[in-house]
Amino acid sequence: MGFRFFLSPPQMSGNEQQYVQEAFESNYIAPLGAFVNTLEENVKSYTASPNALALNSGTSALHLALRVSGIGQGDFVLASSFTFIGSIDAILYQGAIPIFIDSDLESWNLSPKLLIRALESLPKKPKALIVTHLYGQCAKIAEIAEICAQYGILLIEDAAESLGAFYDKKHSGTFGEFGILSFNGNKIITTSGGGMLLGKNQEKTEKARYYSTQARENLPFYEHLDYGYNYRLSNICAAIGVGQLEQIEVKVSKRRKIFEWYQETLHKEVESQTLEFMPEIPNSRGNRWLTTLRFLSPKVNPLALVELLAKAGIESRPLWKPMHLQPLFRDSISCVDGTSQKLFESGICLPSGGALEKCDIDEIASLIQKFLKNR
Ligand SMILES: Cc1ncc(COP(=O)(O)O)c(C=O)c1O
Repeated sequence: MGFRFFLSPPQMSGNEQQYVQEAFESNYIAPLGAFVNTLEENVKSYTASPNALALNSGTSALHLALRVSGIGQGDFVLASSFTFIGSIDAILYQGAIPIFIDSDLESWNLSPKLLIRALESLPKKPKALIVTHLYGQCAKIAEIAEICAQYGILLIEDAAESLGAFYDKKHSGTFGEFGILSFNGNKIITTSGGGMLLGKNQEKTEKARYYSTQARENLPFYEHLDYGYNYRLSNICAAIGVGQLEQIEVKVSKRRKIFEWYQETLHKEVESQTLEFMPEIPNSRGNRWLTTLRFLSPKVNPLALVELLAKAGIESRPLWKPMHLQPLFRDSISCVDGTSQKLFESGICLPSGGALEKCDIDEIASLIQKFLKNR
């Protein structure tokens, strides 16, 4: 469908085309090349992650994080239930068993309280936790990291949506043993498709690099002691990423501005407790990748609003359907209290792309107001 306003379209904004041209001129089209190294170095310096590995997707990065951590058949892996399936797929690739933890209303992200409850009650000790910083807003990551350390659980952060977000001045994705970023088409920066593994430990990150290039031994001929994957990012995609990353702070500021415009326009609805926006936990800065809100009256049907906005050429989307409610995970173990289900049933994501202007937000917000009046 040809929307006038998309949720989060790519926004080229600087030197991307020039860098792609340079990659063409060097003929390092693929597989690797100078821009892949530059993107890794630039992500390291922006996030202060000691190690980084550019990959073809965020999903691949999660897969490698689990593989190098020795997580395999039958292992329990805890995960946010309120997330996108890309956060969970890798657990299944490894034959491990996902166990879903619900959110809390203070962060909309993983509840530390329910995490402890799960750890105290599971029949077997989980090996890892994958916590998502949803919609670019930080989970209670310091508290979660402390719990993981206390219980001896490996922490992996799904920061696919949250590049540029930080808690206590430390970037999302750099608290755990591993963090992952996504650069797919709708993310705050895109390489058209791609991702990054952030690693605390150099040896483990290098092991992931080895697996990402078909587990080739460093020999003049092809020798394999193990199996790997074809997961590296192409030099062309990395060239786009280098250009995009130069603009990250501009992009975060604009997304935060868009959020503020929605907040200003819908302030009466917030004051009358008709709706609330996704919170930003104290001591954090989210990137407001997507502006999301939920309606506080159970009588408001967000799907009807999604339909109404679509008729006006505006793309919106319900909040993620929690993993523990997915038919695929019908028989899974979960530790939930109804929070993410409530969020899913009452919330939507609004257009948040960096090219939007104040008048666009006013138009979208006024349609929301009209929808609420006509209920
Ligand atoms: C929360 C979350 N996790 C994981 C992914 C997977 O990233 P990718 O699409 O780059 O594989 C995405 C994005 O698509 C995501 O939003």
